[in-house]
Amino acid sequence: MNAATSGKRPALRLVFLGPPGAGKGTQAQILAERLDARQISTGDILRKHVADGTDLGAKAKAFMEAGALVPDQLIIAMIESEIGTLDRFILDGFPRTVPQAEALDALLERLGKPLSAVFLFEADRPTLVRRLTARWTNPRNGRTYNTELNPPKVAGIDDDDGGALVQRPDDTAEIVGNRLTTYDAQTAPLVDFYAKSGRLTRIDALQSIDRVSDALCTALGIRDGAPA
Ligand code: AP5
Repeated sequence: MNAATSGKRPALRLVFLGPPGAGKGTQAQILAERLDARQISTGDILRKHVADGTDLGAKAKAFMEAGALVPDQLIIAMIESEIGTLDRFILDGFPRTVPQAEALDALLERLGKPLSAVFLFEADRPTLVRRLTARWTNPRNGRTYNTELNPPKVAGIDDDDGGALVQRPDDTAEIVGNRLTTYDAQTAPLVDFYAKSGRLTRIDALQSIDRVSDALCTALGIRDGAPA
């Protein structure tokens, strides 16, 4: 009996890789809902730790505010507990360094659950800066808007829950610059890491949100929410 005849849904273990503002979170939220998978956003999880004043949040806060990466050992421990026994997940913002990618491979190998695919979201720097400095976020669920490109129906208010939207403190022009520099130095080497092992699929992230979603579904062989 295979997954289709047993009624059990096939595993879906994805990594969304790409610079800040490329649209990883936007697409992870859309795809997770469409495919009934779990979005695991390390940025969102860390922001919740900061807001809740946990020990991890206290350690992570200064790195995040400066646009630097939180130390690998903290992130790896956090992600291991998030993945747990999940079989359908989208890693949004993890891994971000070669040691994190190696730790993820080791974890999934131990569990006998390899990645299904790694998607690289590609966009140019001026677009990334424009998207981030005009981004507004719903802090309750991580949904994002953009005052220029993807505005809410009423300025400052979430379309669905009617609550206030906020701007992230690391979305100022100065910190966005630091985050892009951090990406080039520490995360861009992952492109080679995954390309060399034949796991990388490039996505043109300059397209509209709908077209990027379509490109992801096509690459995954998905039609109407179900694997083709
Ligand atoms: P994190 O929250 O992960 O930030 P990031 O990677 O910088 O990613 P962003 O959320 O800024 O961008 P995105 O690609 O998700 O874009 P989005 O979809 O929102 O991390 C924050 C911090 O936490 C890090 O700096 C670090 O300190 C720490 N951290 C997190 N993970 C870590 C790790 N693994 N290791 C160490 N430290 C870690 O879209 C952006 C905007 O564009 C939105 O307004 C959206 O509406 C708009 N938009 C999206 N797609 C499109 C489109 N196709 N067309 C037009 N507009 C679009």
